Amino acid sequence: MSITIDGRQVAASVIETVKAATRALETDAGVRAGLAVVIVGDDPASHAYVSSKSKMAKECGFLSIQHTLSEATTQEELAALVAKLNADPSIHGILVQLPLPKHLNSEPIIQSILPEKDVDGLHVVNAGKLATGDLESGLVSCTPAGAMVFVRQTHGDDLSGLNAVVIGRSNLFGKPMSALLLAANATVTTAHSRTRDLAAVCRNADILVAAVGRPEMLKADWVKPGATVIDVGINRVPAPEKGEGKSKLVGDVAFAEAAEVASVITPVPGGVGPMTIAMLMANTVIAAHRKAGHKPPRF
Ligand code: GUN
Repeated sequence: MSITIDGRQVAASVIETVKAATRALETDAGVRAGLAVVIVGDDPASHAYVSSKSKMAKECGFLSIQHTLSEATTQEELAALVAKLNADPSIHGILVQLPLPKHLNSEPIIQSILPEKDVDGLHVVNAGKLATGDLESGLVSCTPAGAMVFVRQTHGDDLSGLNAVVIGRSNLFGKPMSALLLAANATVTTAHSRTRDLAAVCRNADILVAAVGRPEMLKADWVKPGATVIDVGINRVPAPEKGEGKSKLVGDVAFAEAAEVASVITPVPGGVGPMTIAMLMANTVIAAHRKAGHKPPRF
């Protein structure tokens, strides 16, 4: 049997560190950390995510600003809002919730956010710093940063000699996750939908990170005995056992069977999910410390 990581508990401890650092910055520098979250359109799932981000920012003691823009917002209007937030000294972090409505082009918007306020870690400057191994001055995308907290808790800071496999190559997760593992000295394979014999590649992994978006695709025989398995998938599937028309969340890993083989595994829900918001708060308080010329906390 394996150890199941309690992501809610780890996230709560990150939030405690954020709260303490927020209070200290206010006392020592008279600066209150500020986070602006921007959402465009009516997607209910995005609205739910954004509300939890704004609520958690308040709970952390931040100045928490939410801009809710209509579906009819133009590219120019959104760009103008980002420019205004870039120039606002009370705002240390800017997050534009993705995906944007189809008529808007997200890339120029993301790249127009000042890198030092890019708490999503999506600006090319932050992606480039991570790619070159500069973890001190950039900001790292929240979900991989959260997954990495689990990896460090399990294996320590130095992953020398360990094979890591990341399934997924998105800019938001797969690429930064691979870069973080590499920076910690792991031997990293970034696998994806075009990888040949994915199961065999996965069986080689001491650290297996799945971000595929397919419910319970990774079976027990994909997992090396004793591996650490991090499940980044969040898939809603029908759950007739809970009643007609009901659904539930599952990951990309067939949890019950994989847990028999792995030594450490994350559940869905309650694994990586809660860490994403916690690391957004962490990035905001880091950005506020840097702006004030104070040494930021480590997470
Ligand atoms: N949509 C889903 N996840 C994310 C995220 O981490 N950041 C942003 N900006 N949008 C998202």
